[in-house]
Amino acid sequence: MRNLVQNIADDFFEILRYDKKDWYKYWKKYSEKHEPIIHNYEERLDLSQEQVKELLDELRRPLLDSLMQYWHETSRDQKLYCSKLVSHRHDLFQLQREDFSIILTGLLGLKDWVVVEGNRENVILIDLLSLYKKGIIDKVAEVTFQAVKSFRDGMYTGDYIPKQELFIRLTHEIDKILEKHNLADSMKMICELLYSNVAYYDWVGFYLVDQNKANELVLGPFVGEPTEHVRIPFGKGICGQAAATGMTFLVQDVSRETNYLSCSPKVKAEIVVPIKLSEKIFGELDIDSHVLNPFDESDDRFLNTICEKISKKMRSDTEWK
Ligand code: SME
Repeated sequence: MRNLVQNIADDFFEILRYDKKDWYKYWKKYSEKHEPIIHNYEERLDLSQEQVKELLDELRRPLLDSLMQYWHETSRDQKLYCSKLVSHRHDLFQLQREDFSIILTGLLGLKDWVVVEGNRENVILIDLLSLYKKGIIDKVAEVTFQAVKSFRDGMYTGDYIPKQELFIRLTHEIDKILEKHNLADSMKMICELLYSNVAYYDWVGFYLVDQNKANELVLGPFVGEPTEHVRIPFGKGICGQAAATGMTFLVQDVSRETNYLSCSPKVKAEIVVPIKLSEKIFGELDIDSHVLNPFDESDDRFLNTICEKISKKMRSDTEWK
């Protein structure tokens, strides 16, 4: 497989070997070495050479020093995590088109990510300096995921959307979906929305209680790899336990859960939230993640809000009465 993610930050950190007054001179060298991407980056952000000089003048050496140190300690893992998050959405991001690659490096700290034309393909540049200044340098992979998603949506530059903000935006989207579509279509669209926007939601699906055979769940709309667990009795696996207790079931590490039905060895964590109709279990929302320990209270709250909204829609929809 081609090298989807490259790390050229060392070429940027080379600037630290120069006297501050020569930083612009070095920037030009860096630009030449990576022709045409740095030049196209300046164009994309509409920067004059005067502005580039000013930005380099304002840059503090200790800040770059500490970024370099941090990056040397973590770059291997962060780059791997980046490749993983993007390649696990192979279909969604249409990786087979091979029309983009990702470069992690230092730039001028203005935007978290910028897409430019490279020699052969589009290049999604992730600016480590911008992330470091905002205190989100540990989010390189999540930023990259959002950048690829936004690029596919037709955007060329942007900033990281923090999880809380993302969940607010997605909740609004879900309100619109539920307002416009019937329940079955809404559920499918909610799966797609969550799967394509939350980097660590690697399988998103609904299980519904079988109306003819109580105490058994049947697979409903889902997005992600097909699962063999099409029917699950109450009490079995994480889904069955959530159905039996009527409570959210959160497992941060599935290898520690004995009553667990595995769908794929890639799955590391799972959360299941019940959907209730007048205190009776109607179904549940199930999320699998390929990341260990990915969920926190905000996921719990967000997913519970979605399930309450679905339940509300069911109550008001005549088709389900
Ligand atoms: N892991 C689940 C089975 C369903 S899949 O995750 C889609 C469980 O233990 O119930």
